Amino acid sequence: MPVIEILGLEKTYLVGFWRKRPKRALHPLHLTVEEGEVFGFLGPNGAGKTTTLKLLMGLVFPTSGSARLLGRDWTDPEVKAQIGFLPEQPYFYDYLTAHELLNYYGQLSGVPGKDRKRRIDEVLQRVGLTDVKGVQLRKFSKGMLQRAGIAQAILHDPKLVFFDEPMSGLDPMGRREVRDLMEQLKHEGKTVFFSTHILSDAEALCDRVAIIHQGELRSVGAVADLTSSVQSKVEVIWQGREVPPSMKALGAECHVTGDTVRAVLAESQQDAAIDALRRERMRLIAITPVRTSLEEYFIEKLQQSETSVGSTA
Ligand SMILES: Nc1ncnc2c1ncn2[C@@H]1O[C@H](COP(=O)(O)OP(=O)(O)O)[C@@H](O)[C@H]1O
Ligand SMILES: [Mg+2]
Repeated sequence: MPVIEILGLEKTYLVGFWRKRPKRALHPLHLTVEEGEVFGFLGPNGAGKTTTLKLLMGLVFPTSGSARLLGRDWTDPEVKAQIGFLPEQPYFYDYLTAHELLNYYGQLSGVPGKDRKRRIDEVLQRVGLTDVKGVQLRKFSKGMLQRAGIAQAILHDPKLVFFDEPMSGLDPMGRREVRDLMEQLKHEGKTVFFSTHILSDAEALCDRVAIIHQGELRSVGAVADLTSSVQSKVEVIWQGREVPPSMKALGAECHVTGDTVRAVLAESQQDAAIDALRRERMRLIAITPVRTSLEEYFIEKLQQSETSVGSTA
C-alpha cells in the first residue's frame, strides 16, 4: 500500500519586498512511497526538499496539487496523529530539559498522560539521552539536539516519519547513530522519508531514492538500478612512467604515481586499451571494474540537467 502519494504538489513563493516576483520552488511533483520503505529525497541546496516536506506537513500552502498520507487525504486530522516530523533546523526552547521538551511535545501530539512518562523514558533510551534527560538543551551538542529532535518525532509512535536533513552538521559518529536509528525504525515496519545531501548515508540506508534539482524531480529508483544505468568504467593499471598517446586517445583519465600508471576508461574501451598496452610493450598489472557510486550518478544527473538548461537558453 502506498503510504505517501504526492499528487502534483507545486509551490511558487512570492519574493521581494516592494515588487513581488514569483519564484517557483517546486514544479508539480508526483511521487509514491510504499509502506516500510526508507526513502531518500536527495538534492543540492535550494533544490526544493524542505519546501516539499513543509508542504506535506501542512506548514506552507501549495500553489496547486495535493497528497495522500497513510491512505487518507493529507488534511485529515487522523493523519497528523500518525506522522512524525523532524524539521531542518529544529528550534527548541533552550531552557527546557530534554525530558520537559518531550513532555511538552507529548501533550501536543496527544500521548495520554498515563503513558507519557513511560514513552518518554523509552524514546530517551532509544536516542541515548537517558543520562542527560535533566540537562537543559542549551548545554546540548548539535548531535544531542538532533537526537532530541528525533525523540520528539517518534514519541507518539508514528507509522510514518519525515526527517529533513537528519544528518547535516553531525560528525561521523553522530551520523552513524542517526543512521542506526533510522534502520531500527525500518525494522519496526515504519516508513521513513528523509531528505539529505549526504549521498553516502542515503546509499547505505535507502530502499529507493529520488533526486530533485531546481524544483524538479530528475530520477527515482533503487540505488543499484540508478547507478547501473551509468556507463560502466574499468580501471587499468600498468607499469610505466608515462601514458602512451594511444591510451590518451581512448579517453582514459590517467594518473602516474612512481612507476605505475592508473587509467579509468569506459568498459567498452577495455579491449582497445589492452591492445594498445601490448603494442607499447607495457606490463599490465590489473584491470578492475569501477563501481559507480550514488555520488557519481548524482553529479552526472545534475550536470546533464545543467547542459540541457544551457542548450534551451
Ligand atoms: N519562504 C520562502 N520564500 C521565498 N523563497 C523560498 C522560501 N523558502 C524557500 N524558498 C526558495 O525555494 C527554493 C527551494 O528551497 P528549499 O525547499 O529550502 O530547498 P532545499 O531544502 O532543497 O535546500 C530555494 O530557491 C529557496 O530560496
Ligand atoms: Mg532544506
